[in-house]
Amino acid sequence: MREIGPERRPLVAGNWKMHTTPQSAVELARAIVRAEPPDGVGLVLCPPAIAVTDVARAVVGTSVQVGAQNMHWLDSGAFTGEISAPMLAGVAEVVIVGHSERRADFGETDEMVNRKLRAALAAGLMPIVCVGETESVRDAGGARALITAQVEAALAGIDSTDAEPLVLAYEPVWAIGTGRTATPEQAAEAIGWAREALSHTLDAPAAQRTRILYGGSVSPANARELLAQDGVDGALVGGASLKAADFIAIARSAVPKQTSA
Ligand code: 13P
Repeated sequence: MREIGPERRPLVAGNWKMHTTPQSAVELARAIVRAEPPDGVGLVLCPPAIAVTDVARAVVGTSVQVGAQNMHWLDSGAFTGEISAPMLAGVAEVVIVGHSERRADFGETDEMVNRKLRAALAAGLMPIVCVGETESVRDAGGARALITAQVEAALAGIDSTDAEPLVLAYEPVWAIGTGRTATPEQAAEAIGWAREALSHTLDAPAAQRTRILYGGSVSPANARELLAQDGVDGALVGGASLKAADFIAIARSAVPKQTSA
């Protein structure tokens, strides 16, 4: 029988993408707080960068954490339009790194993801690093190899102690915004591959304590089954995170998981 270790606290993060204005973002954050998030589940809101400060103010005094959706890997410089980890660290606690939309639409490479991850950790942020395969890669039988390569590349040269706040998110590209979710079995299997890949670069306790979320068309209707899966430590939610009631319903579906000692 598998030895049971300490609990990984569930985490449910909302990626609001390029939606909401600073005003409507604050209203959404307030509605989420008012809807009484469940105890024992970490909640993270990632509004557009322009609303991060206002949303962070709106949730002061609650356990809700606020994050950005992206950042540059350097601390400062002539990089028009970019924001850096030290800038964020003053207002937010979390940052999403390597989202597939950034990889596909903005040319973000594994090397950039690695640099961003190092910068986020150095600034004391909790990074949520996204990995996941496209449909053609899955159909060709390459999902495991791709997820492994993305995790290894993201974590290259990062030691286990520094990786303490790290969270991973497995987001199959074919399930993002499509209404098609991975089956609970597919999600659990891919998350197992990601955790094994973590153990290639981190020591065993660090690989075990790292939370791994599932993302891709998570909704109140499918969250319970997905989040009940062994190894699925929470969700990274896009569309459904824009409705307070849906986001809270998903959070209520999260179940604590044990690490295997
Ligand atoms: P959807 O939940 O809208 O599919 O988006 C998932 C996602 O990309 C979260 O980062």
